[in-house]
Amino acid sequence: MRSILRPTSPLTVSLILALALSAGLAAAGEAKTPLGKWMKPNMGAPLAGQDFPTLKTSLDLVASKPPPGAGYPKWASMAQAGSAAAAKQDVAALKASCKQCHDAYKDQYIKEFPTRAFP
Ligand code: HEC
Repeated sequence: MRSILRPTSPLTVSLILALALSAGLAAAGEAKTPLGKWMKPNMGAPLAGQDFPTLKTSLDLVASKPPPGAGYPKWASMAQAGSAAAAKQDVAALKASCKQCHDAYKDQYIKEFPTRAFP
């Protein structure tokens, strides 16, 4: 990397900045679907604020509304595990449930249900 970065031209700097910015945005995650837009205030914000009753309500709702079809067999059980964790105020288990579902289904869901209404 060092040899590429030298000499530091204005173009190199702006290129690196642009790359860093787009990488940062991708990592933060943008909601692509109505579900994702609902997740932000109903999952992301209460997790940040450790609002366990709201998280439990949200996760129960998500568990009760799996996407249609056979492509999401673990959807409900993952959300139920999150709901149980919220009831116990177990932050580590809560985050594990978010991550499990996102790792398993986020890309698939965004591809298959870009406009599915939620809730
Ligand atoms: C049973 C599945 C499931 C569970 C559990 C779940 N999510 Fe999601 N979540 C999704 C799917 C699918 C998307 C993708 C939808 C989109 O991006 O439009 C998503 C998107 C999001 C988004 C918006 C996009 C992004 O990448 O930032 C946020 C914020 C979010 N979830 C937070 C949470 C949090 C916090 C938890 C746990 C407390 C959680 N989710 C639990 C399925 C789930």
